[in-house]
Amino acid sequence: MGGAKKIMTVFGTRPEAIKMAPLVRMLDEEEGIKSVLCVTAQHREMLDQALGLFRLKPDYDLNIMRPSQTLGAVTACVLAGVEGVIERERPDAILVHGDTTTTFAAALAGFYAKCKVGHVEAGLRTHDRHSPFPEEMNRTLAGRLADFHFAPTQGNRDNLLREGVAADSVFVTGNTVIDALLDVAGMPYDFSEGCLADIDFEGRRVIAVTCHRRENLGRNMTAIFSAIRDIAEAFDDVEIVYPVHMNPKVRCAADRLLRGAPRVRLIDPLDYLPFVKLMSRACLIITDSGGMQEEAPALGKPVLVVRKETERPEAVEAGTVRLAGVKREDIRRIASELLTDGEAYARMARAANPYGDGNACRRIVDILKDRI
Ligand code: UD1
Ligand code: UDP
Repeated sequence: MGGAKKIMTVFGTRPEAIKMAPLVRMLDEEEGIKSVLCVTAQHREMLDQALGLFRLKPDYDLNIMRPSQTLGAVTACVLAGVEGVIERERPDAILVHGDTTTTFAAALAGFYAKCKVGHVEAGLRTHDRHSPFPEEMNRTLAGRLADFHFAPTQGNRDNLLREGVAADSVFVTGNTVIDALLDVAGMPYDFSEGCLADIDFEGRRVIAVTCHRRENLGRNMTAIFSAIRDIAEAFDDVEIVYPVHMNPKVRCAADRLLRGAPRVRLIDPLDYLPFVKLMSRACLIITDSGGMQEEAPALGKPVLVVRKETERPEAVEAGTVRLAGVKREDIRRIASELLTDGEAYARMARAANPYGDGNACRRIVDILKDRI
């Protein structure tokens, strides 16, 4: 492998793994590149689920996750751990993704080691430093530290340019989530077996729900879950399917407010394949997830985002995503409108894909080969 450039990818949570998996697989196969994968395991079980589906085997696993971990502890463990791996591997560049604490701390470790840093999914902004918390700041700081910025959309690029980032370091590539989604959506899946087998997709309208954001823990989550309960009670042909995030605070709130509600199914986090199949058979998605705001429009599924703002305005502009806020009454009203007004529903249920054509990874690899 003489002369090959060494590129080390670092990630730690479920969404990063899903969105970086197709890129790592491409780097692994690319001539002239030696690909190294370092996972922080900021998430343990949910990371392993994603690694398994994409058959990724990390070269380094920092295994940092602790119960009720604090932001400071995650930052410190990632920083020290990635520093050690960079020292040993001496990569030509490291790649980080998105807005988690793994992202920020790994980018900082790269910067300290004077190693080039590529930031995938760069430039998304709400412009509110406290929301999403701490993700808006994580992504902004990773952007300050990075040498190359892979922006999913032109709007993301514009955000970076307004912050003074050099134009020739920002590339509009599309979002790698579409590469992952197209890969997985095409895989065969047998609904009569496995974790979705009991769900009555024929007889009922299925609503897929996820919720986990730190700024929603507490009062907002109580309001969101109460609204979901209201919706299930008001529509007896609706079934709610909610794979609950592993965060104990989320699981506790879901148990308290949703367990036992009629036609509400609380299940463990799903592997990405069944989860994509669930989204593709659902009539509606209610979520505070970032990634699902990108996936659902590509699948033609209306999304109610239970947040006050979004760093992904493109899907809102395209009409498939609606910001429903975090008030019980608003969420219940907007969901009820979509479940009763066929025209309002049809206006949202159009496939729109502002996030790319499934070739983001190819573009990123080509740029890396050119620039490193
Ligand atoms: C993290 C990211 C968030 C991202 C989300 C995706 C930060 C600060 N937050 O939030 O940006 O949207 O992941 O899901 O980086 N846990 C498990 N097993 C798992 C995963 C989590 O037990 O597989 C539990 C642990 O007790 C952990 C807690 O969940 O302490 C919280 O995990 P953490 O990564 O700190 O925050 P998230 O809210 O998951
Ligand atoms: N997802 C999954 N299984 C689940 C719930 C979500 O595979 O049970 C996928 C989803 O399709 C998306 C990603 O996980 O690709 C979103 O992760 P999460 O909501 O944890 O983080 P966020 O998108 O908010 O950063």
